[in-house]
Amino acid sequence: MREQRLSQLEKYLETLTPKRVVQELDKFIIGQEEAKRAVAIALRNRWRRQKLPEDLKNEVAPKNIMMIGPTGSGKTEIARRLAQLIKAPFVKVEATKYTEVGYVGRDVESMVRDLVEEAYRMVQQEMTQLVKDKARKYAEERLVDYILRQQYGEASGSPFAGFPFPFPFGGGQNQQPQEQKIPEYKRRELLEKLRKGELDDEIVEIEITAKAPAGPMVMAPPGMEDFQNQLSEILKGLIPGSRKRRKVKVKEALEILTQEEAQKLLDPDEVAAEAIYRAENFGIIFIDEIDKIAIKTPGHGPGVSREGVQRDLLPLVEGTTVSTKYGPVKTDHILFIAAGAFHLAKPSDLIPELQGRFPIRVELKPLTKKEFVRILTEPKNALTKQYKELLKTEGVYLDFTEDGIEEIAQIAEILNEKTENIGARRLHTVMEKLLEDILFEAPDLKGQTIIIDSKFVRAKLEKFVEDVELSKYIL
Ligand SMILES: Nc1ncnc2c1ncn2[C@@H]1O[C@H](COP(=O)(O)OP(=O)(O)OP(=O)(O)O)[C@@H](O)[C@H]1O
Ligand SMILES: [Mg+2]
Repeated sequence: MREQRLSQLEKYLETLTPKRVVQELDKFIIGQEEAKRAVAIALRNRWRRQKLPEDLKNEVAPKNIMMIGPTGSGKTEIARRLAQLIKAPFVKVEATKYTEVGYVGRDVESMVRDLVEEAYRMVQQEMTQLVKDKARKYAEERLVDYILRQQYGEASGSPFAGFPFPFPFGGGQNQQPQEQKIPEYKRRELLEKLRKGELDDEIVEIEITAKAPAGPMVMAPPGMEDFQNQLSEILKGLIPGSRKRRKVKVKEALEILTQEEAQKLLDPDEVAAEAIYRAENFGIIFIDEIDKIAIKTPGHGPGVSREGVQRDLLPLVEGTTVSTKYGPVKTDHILFIAAGAFHLAKPSDLIPELQGRFPIRVELKPLTKKEFVRILTEPKNALTKQYKELLKTEGVYLDFTEDGIEEIAQIAEILNEKTENIGARRLHTVMEKLLEDILFEAPDLKGQTIIIDSKFVRAKLEKFVEDVELSKYIL
């Protein structure tokens, strides 16, 4: 079973050729070819390594990537889209969230724990899918039992005996004598109705395992939150979950019971082992804002601790073993992608050992008008498409003309130059301001088509372009 699932994953990864990865990223990210190529190659190398004989395989360390580029140029966006694409465990973390071991806060090892957690979730979901049919059968059987119990009453004295249930056979108010045998054919009849969905909207009372109470509170010393979580988890396991009764529609009951039966069919140890394997061999950790932990002048103040974080990161990136609640995880083959704007610090302000562990440097270019035009129109989630769809729900139609788009891009570029360069993020503020009135009045504009041409754009936005002070606050 495990081989089957793994080979499925590998087959999928096989389809992700570097070209295809770039193509997929192209759907959302304009330009930045170099960065897209680099991540595509790194991904493919993971897959290639997987094909090597065992002894060679362990020699091939992943070539970690550092993405450098100004704010709003697509670094985080590339990571996000990559995550959706690869179906391998992936976490994105902010370097600034961590503190040096021994200080208050999260230590860097917790990013590996997060990765395993993600892997566990993925594997669990996949495995649940595999046992779904079986789980559903069990769930149906159980559900029929609940329904019959409701019709025929439980042991005498039960508060549920006599609960009316609108089925044609017996049951309901004219309660049959307790303890009577339920004929097999009734079960079958009921099962059939259930499967046909004829009972979907009936109400049934089911018994489910109540989610164990949030776990006993364990107070941990600051900085030891992970330890705290683990301890809570262990204690939670010791307290048996209580059974709880709930009245729900049959349709919903079937979902709930199927979930519950699926959980019973899974072996948590197997899921954990698999999760660790996937995290170790396919995992990717994206460390955003890495420049924020780089320091120019070593010495006093908060810098000391930031350098500490870099030192803590080093063994992780180099390859170490991190203990997690599912077991020890080796980080040797986890791919790390770091990203940062580096407009204050430079990559060379990172400690040299860490620089050395990110051998592939890619630069993202600052975006200009030309790219803005494309970003506004081409990506699947392009802003103009988003606003069009939003307003369509009110029966208002937006028509962006070519020169209108040009004008928006032009204004975004000018504002980036005059105030602060926030890259493509500028487009969000500009578009929002441009369409503010329409968004406000849309319910009164039903049936209208509004043409957004350069004249319209200029009329709405000119005052901001001319008045830099004003635009600083508004756009
Ligand atoms: N090359 C691009 N193509 C399409 N959209 C882009 C591009 N670059 C940025 N965007 C848009 O701008 C927004 C911000 O980009 P992103 O979050 O990737 O910036 P960043 O490079 O991570 O900046 P920062 O250094 O501030 O974190 C994204 O949500 C995306 O919509
Ligand atoms: Mg970012």
